[in-house]
Amino acid sequence: MSRIVVANDQSIAEAAELLKAGALVVLPTETVYGLGANALDGRAVARIFEAKNRPQFNPLIVHVKDVEAAAEFVVMDERAKKIAEVFWPGPLTLILPRQEGSAISDLVSAGLDTLAVRVPSHKVMRQVMIQAGVPIAAPSANASGEPSATTPKHVAESLGDRIDFILAAGACEVGLESTVLDLSGDVPVILRPGAITPEDLQPYLGIVDIDFGTHEKPKSPGQLLKHYAPSIPVRLNAVDVKKGEALLAFGSIKFMGVEGGGFAKDLPEERLKNLSEDGDLHEAASHLFMMLRELDQPEHKAIAVMNIPNTGLGVAINDRLKRAAQQG
Ligand code: TXA
Ligand code: MG
Repeated sequence: MSRIVVANDQSIAEAAELLKAGALVVLPTETVYGLGANALDGRAVARIFEAKNRPQFNPLIVHVKDVEAAAEFVVMDERAKKIAEVFWPGPLTLILPRQEGSAISDLVSAGLDTLAVRVPSHKVMRQVMIQAGVPIAAPSANASGEPSATTPKHVAESLGDRIDFILAAGACEVGLESTVLDLSGDVPVILRPGAITPEDLQPYLGIVDIDFGTHEKPKSPGQLLKHYAPSIPVRLNAVDVKKGEALLAFGSIKFMGVEGGGFAKDLPEERLKNLSEDGDLHEAASHLFMMLRELDQPEHKAIAVMNIPNTGLGVAINDRLKRAAQQG
């Protein structure tokens, strides 16, 4: 098994040393846990793909400590500088042209001429980046195709002994992966919706479209339709609970019924989780992957999910849920 160590000065220093030496280290961020490796070290990066069982063509995000560090690896035009100034550190990834001769391993960008960069705000992650002094390539810390892990326990369940060290710092605040904003072309496009919404970006960029990647050739390979999938079926927009199903609720379930009789509110705890009893989308986002994982048990026939309003952060939540519901 990998070592799970609570983040403190000593373990942060150890994580930084391990990264420099080419190890895989799981790191907390404000969005989800990341499976980190030194982005300059091709062999270390290759181990990420191996640990996740991820197809090689899926490129990774490079995490850096500040804008200056980002500018070493990507070309930042005026738009990118402005967006970085406003939203970094935070849950926003920018896709930008790679700097010519950049030292980042080609494996990180999977051969593309663009690179994804992000400056995370999580205190522990920032300390690790400063101490390691190298850019850190990190996908979400889960086996490929599974929901992202937002707690150290779920990281360990998903990746088991395939990693060296888990730096634990509780549950992630946002709970959804970062917004991915493509600024490599003339028209800004969101490739993955997240906590930074089109409405947040609009004052700086004008109208920003979301490319949900549901067409033949998604620009962001991570947008492959079936992606954030539990191992049992997921049924969306549920207004009742069918026999054998577990319920992922949102808001009040006072009047929701169970097929064959009874009320949803009386379901045993292991069959019922509520993303947010008050209908708060931020709370719901932070619970989403954790609760999907908790309900993903073989004794349940499926996970019924109640309707989530498709506004603000709800767009990102519904995007992940639609992917979770894709079977096959
Ligand atoms: O919040 C997050 O973004 C987390 C934490 C750990 O930072 N990371 C994360 O990484 O979600 P990952 O690898 O699971 O997702 C990265 C996404 C994928 O959809 C990938 O296809 C896309 O970013 N991506 C990376 N580089 C890209 C590029 N050059 N062009 C287009 N899409 C890219
Ligand atoms: Mg992922």
